[in-house]
Amino acid sequence: MKPKQATTLAHPNIALSKYWGKREYGHNLPAVPSLSVTLAGMTTATTVTFDPSLEKDVLILGGQETSGGPLDRVTALLDRVRKRSEVTEKARVVSANDFPTASGLASSASAFAALALAASTAAGLHLSPEEVSNLARMSSVSAARSVLGGFVELRAGWPRDEKLSAQQVAAPEHWPLRVIVAVVSEGPKTMSSTDGMAHTARTNPFFPAWVERAPGIYARIKQAVEKKDLEALGVVAEESALAMHATSIAAAPALIYWTATTLDVLAEVRRLRASGIRAYATIDAGPHVKVLCSPDDEAEVVKHLGAVPGVKRTIVARPGPGARVFAAAEERPGGDSLSGDPPSVSYATLDVESIDLETISAKQ
Ligand code: DP6
Repeated sequence: MKPKQATTLAHPNIALSKYWGKREYGHNLPAVPSLSVTLAGMTTATTVTFDPSLEKDVLILGGQETSGGPLDRVTALLDRVRKRSEVTEKARVVSANDFPTASGLASSASAFAALALAASTAAGLHLSPEEVSNLARMSSVSAARSVLGGFVELRAGWPRDEKLSAQQVAAPEHWPLRVIVAVVSEGPKTMSSTDGMAHTARTNPFFPAWVERAPGIYARIKQAVEKKDLEALGVVAEESALAMHATSIAAAPALIYWTATTLDVLAEVRRLRASGIRAYATIDAGPHVKVLCSPDDEAEVVKHLGAVPGVKRTIVARPGPGARVFAAAEERPGGDSLSGDPPSVSYATLDVESIDLETISAKQ
């Protein structure tokens, strides 16, 4: 019998227009629209194997068997897939990132995008990208966007929405923006996005003002992306990120994702702008700063961000593809390198037991 197995690749995305807050209607619906860019340059690889010999789902994350909350979230997604398919077996999920996990580099986005595609493919479901996006969204809202490539939007949820999927606004080739990530710490963040936004909505009396303001920000971001206007995009993307962080800073107790280095990088971005370089910052639920700039300014921005004391390293990312099947059991190419997508991934290095991401060309 064929093993029910699939390996997928997905990338994180960076929200230019931030999602922060859920509706109260259930179904994990976002309270605000968001618009992101899916990033080639950081990769999650996930293999799902439904295995009759397993008594419970098993999660191996970055080489470590993991239980508790992360496993429960994975099982919830697998249960949705089992319900829709003929599969009843428990699954072994092996997943690895080539960037820091749970530290505000949007690892849950690429994780659940890769998992939704791997689990549904391994189970023999032939879902459309919209259906995979909806499946990923039920686990993590930002993951809905990583299923698709390039510039991607997700509208806010409404009372009768049970399904909600992200849509592509423009393909990766539309605009070769650069996103330079200044990594300021490798450890996990203080509070997950899920808990952070719930805490903020519960305790910050100004939170409704954010929900009211976000659609206007989103509309301006979408227009700037369509027009490929870096200055307009950068100014509003900073506004979105800082308004989002202002909501959590004003929660009680305050939720501050930043470190002193985060602020130093923000100051460096302003200095760069004052010197004529168009560089704009955005920050997710963690301390890292992601800087938008044009390809022409990439080297200069990397140099300046890397020189800020406390910056551990920089990662250069650019608009990239959505989640994709790397190998499904019935298509195993027998250990040969797959050509094309992405170019330097060797199937052999993505064996179920030992995913080794070092050979994935992370810094394309
Ligand atoms: C700051 O998608 O991780 O990155 O839906 O609870 O899983 P859940 O939250 P998540 O939140 C991401 C928040 C953000 C902004 C964004 O990506 O839009």
